[in-house]
Amino acid sequence: MPSPHSFVNAKCPHFWHGGDYNPEQWPEQIRREDLRLMKLAHVNVLSVGIFSWSALEPSEGRFEFEWLDRTFEALHGQDAFVVLATPSGSKPAWLSRKYPEVCRVLKDGSREPNGFRHNHCYSSPIYREKIAIINERLSERYGKHPALVLWHISNEYSGDCHCTLCRAAFQQWLEARYGSIGALNQAWWTAFWGHTFADFAEIHEHDWSISGLAIDYKRFVTARTVDFMQHEIAAVRRHGSDVPVTTNLMGMFPGLDYASLVRGLDVVSWDSYPCWKHDADDWKVASDIAMVHDLNRSFKRKPFLLMESAPGTQQWQSVPKLKRPGVQKLEALQAVAHGSDSVQYFQWRKGRGGCEKFHGAIVDHVGHEHTRVFREISEIGAALERLEPVLGSSVDAQVALIFDWENAWGIEQLSGFNNQAKQYDETCRAHYREFWKRGIAVDVLESIADFSRYRLIVAPMLYMLRPGVAERLTAFVEGGGTLLATYLTGIVNESDLCFTGGMPGPLRPLFGIWVEDIDGLYAGETVSVLPTSEGTFGLSGSYAARELCSIVHAEGAEVLARYGSDFHAGNPALTRHRFGAGSAYFMASRNDDRFLADLHGRLAAELDLRRAFPGDLPEGVSAQTRTDGAREFLFLLNATPREQTLAAEPGFSAKNLLEGGTVGRELTLGAYGVLVLEREP
Ligand code: GLA
Ligand code: ZN
Repeated sequence: MPSPHSFVNAKCPHFWHGGDYNPEQWPEQIRREDLRLMKLAHVNVLSVGIFSWSALEPSEGRFEFEWLDRTFEALHGQDAFVVLATPSGSKPAWLSRKYPEVCRVLKDGSREPNGFRHNHCYSSPIYREKIAIINERLSERYGKHPALVLWHISNEYSGDCHCTLCRAAFQQWLEARYGSIGALNQAWWTAFWGHTFADFAEIHEHDWSISGLAIDYKRFVTARTVDFMQHEIAAVRRHGSDVPVTTNLMGMFPGLDYASLVRGLDVVSWDSYPCWKHDADDWKVASDIAMVHDLNRSFKRKPFLLMESAPGTQQWQSVPKLKRPGVQKLEALQAVAHGSDSVQYFQWRKGRGGCEKFHGAIVDHVGHEHTRVFREISEIGAALERLEPVLGSSVDAQVALIFDWENAWGIEQLSGFNNQAKQYDETCRAHYREFWKRGIAVDVLESIADFSRYRLIVAPMLYMLRPGVAERLTAFVEGGGTLLATYLTGIVNESDLCFTGGMPGPLRPLFGIWVEDIDGLYAGETVSVLPTSEGTFGLSGSYAARELCSIVHAEGAEVLARYGSDFHAGNPALTRHRFGAGSAYFMASRNDDRFLADLHGRLAAELDLRRAFPGDLPEGVSAQTRTDGAREFLFLLNATPREQTLAAEPGFSAKNLLEGGTVGRELTLGAYGVLVLEREP
């Protein structure tokens, strides 16, 4: 049987364990000590050169590669591998001084001085020329090096620039998108406040009164960033290096449509920095992070890389609380449970100066291995070696949760209904949590993804329907799928133009409802929601709706719950429409957690959704499965400071991958403990 495993780079078919490494900041004696410590910590992959442009090209056209040659040889010499970054994340001072156009222009029109990082102009021909030169040089020298496993393009791309070059690029992008100024005027409804344009050259990105413009500007910023990234990738490819490329993402960062950006990458990677509080709600932090891991895995439905995480604390948190014993490992193995083939950290060694000198690192200023953080990282490294069978396997989800950047931008621009409590991200997280709690795997996808393989789509607040989405959702339900949508669905098209003919626009026949209006409630106000009769669809007692209550007319849909108070009393609050071979559910208001738990519990039962663990999961314990088709790897993760016991169904037995031996149906997880089990599906 051919290996179903998909490796990031077959040169290093192990879990990658390591992190950002800055040898150019340290003398030889320390660099030698680094090599000894890396072995002790089970570190095998180091990310090098991320902010090293000034070390690689100290003055224009003068290159210094000796330190990097040495680094490659030293790491290669002990069977470690290199992730090599392109250095565009930080500009050398000589470059900004000689060519001020490489610096970004801020919204107020002023040009930023050199300094900080992540702040170049993405249109500047000089910046593009200079980065292509250094990237090409790096590729020529190291692109085929046996130790090179991945290109790390730039670092955490973000932001925009308001210089005249970037504005002209925006105007050209609009011309390409709309073809004629007339089409743009229509799409943006520019007759409003007399904003009709006669020429693309009149358009300025600052006019937020036209929401279609604001949303298109965000699309442009993504497109421009992708264009810059492609320019960088082309340069590293020029000398024939076929090593895969990635760039490190920042979770649900709102500034770039990551679903679009990742199309240009071979491998998805992201930087995960959960803010553990070490209180009773920590399991919610675990669930929120799990969702972002799933998002990163779902982009390509393949293993991703955890590119950065903090060994110990991050100095920038308001209170950089130390991770309690076990939390580091929980965090690391949680990423693996959700599909990561690496546990990488920022950073290997704490620098002596600069604003990140107190950021966690594997090696502290003290310089030796006798620290709690070092010990815990080494244990993680050893654990990853035991988990090698899991490498390259993936997650098979029956549920798709839609999280869509363009929709998020639409909601951000939205003025109406409830401006104090939009909460798109939070709402997606709340729905996600109900599956996480039950050990049900979820793929997190943009609205234009292919949903054909799923049984259930959960689409919270799908305010903007991008082209083709209504048709795709309709076909999904018609073909037997189940869809859940909520208040604020189907209101505008991709240009932020409202659908005429009633909400939820083109989805009205699918849901068999008409939403006449949406009521905004003040903080603290509630409207009760009651099942049509006690026990209908597993609902019981009285639930509380808050913030947003739609006024729904059933047009063929069955009513499963109704409002019980205010002038809403008697109106539908939850409906189901049998459509084709499937069902479309509409949740009309933002309800309390108990409602979500009952609703998703019922949907999971009706659809018989696969659960990772055959038994009940206590609060704060999650279960995830990775599979290679032949074997299942079950991860049980305890995100609570208490020991937890679990009982699987009778007859359950599995191999304990971390500790060896086998386990039966009674399982114990220590505080923040993790079990990884292997069994036949
Ligand atoms: C980001 C950056 C790193 C470092 C860390 C600190 O993820 O990519 O260079 O600044 O934050 O948490
Ligand atoms: Zn610019």
